[in-house]
Amino acid sequence: MSAETLAANLAPASAFTIGGILIDPPVVLAPMAEVTNGAYRRLVKRTGNPGLLVTELISTMAIHHKSARTISMFDITPDQHPVSVQIFGSDPEIMAEAARLAEAQGADIIDINMGCWVPKVCKTGGGAAMMKDEATACRVVEAIAEAVQLPVTVKTRAGWDYGQFATAGFAKRLVSAGAQAIALHARYAVQGHSGDADWSLIARVKAAVNCPVIGNGDIKTPEDALRMLAETGCDGVMVGRAAMGNPWVVRDIAAVLSGKPVPAPPSLPERGRMAIEHVTDLAAQIGEVVAVKSLRAQLPLYVRGYPGASFLRDRIVQALKISEVEQLFALHLEYAESYLARNRSGSTEAEPGINPF
Ligand SMILES: Cc1cc2nc3c(=O)[nH]c(=O)nc-3n(C[C@H](O)[C@H](O)[C@H](O)COP(=O)(O)O)c2cc1C
Repeated sequence: MSAETLAANLAPASAFTIGGILIDPPVVLAPMAEVTNGAYRRLVKRTGNPGLLVTELISTMAIHHKSARTISMFDITPDQHPVSVQIFGSDPEIMAEAARLAEAQGADIIDINMGCWVPKVCKTGGGAAMMKDEATACRVVEAIAEAVQLPVTVKTRAGWDYGQFATAGFAKRLVSAGAQAIALHARYAVQGHSGDADWSLIARVKAAVNCPVIGNGDIKTPEDALRMLAETGCDGVMVGRAAMGNPWVVRDIAAVLSGKPVPAPPSLPERGRMAIEHVTDLAAQIGEVVAVKSLRAQLPLYVRGYPGASFLRDRIVQALKISEVEQLFALHLEYAESYLARNRSGSTEAEPGINPF
């Protein structure tokens, strides 16, 4: 069923509020480390206009130790609001201190990471490890809610061990402690990002708490977003991996949730231009070579699925300058367009196995 048909058969998705912050449309860009930095948040806001952006996870311990690099990760500019700053750690005072700094930097919401499974984060007692120590998790929420004027939210998972759903009770306690919304990544911590998300668990959390619930896991299309809202009763949807190199998926979901048709897909030149915009903005923040290196894996995603994308991916790993990235996208455009033109004219010539670059 197309997104339009599905939308016509479902109630329109309403905006919602988190502690007075309007989330309209009800689609949220997921926090993603090394991805949802200021440059990408700005780009997604311009292109997709989501109801809420979330920073990548930020270490409160590093903030406590005044790490300039970590403090620069806030990068909140006027064109990003509303934006939620996601922090992790386990010491309530240190978490509260970081939340106060985030508030001073312009955050609209403080989100606490209680879902990250990577050992580096869990060994601090933060991230998904918080699910194993609910008393500390609640103290962290209380301390932050007391320290700032902003709404406090928690992003968590279905539970720690596969199949041991624990989050309905956990979410209730977090809400009693002061959390004003829960984002649920509907996988268990031990799953990482593998296996399918189980959306029925989002419905169970929504039934357990009296605050907004944002559903997360495996939303790749506007149809997925509509289905998650209809199947779970959640208030908003959060999009992660599908938005990497593809801010247009956020735009498409935002359009459908607002009752508008899905816009025309971006052209190949537009995709390349967006990739260059992305790296150029990041370079202005962190320097050209560091920006290019850090986006080597993400930039080819802008042309994912097009002929020659794998050649671009192979070559971009050596790039150090924006001019090299521009040159590679120009070569890719030339190659992909001529390949597609040959195919349109009925040529049965297969994509050559030789590197066109
Ligand atoms: C590269 C990457 C980085 C991530 N970093 C974070 C993070 O900093 N904080 C967080 O709460 N979740 C993080 N996640 C998890 C996502 O926010 C999201 O929960 C997960 O990808 C599932 O959503 P999806 O199926 O739409 O991708 C990350 C995921 C990916 C792929």
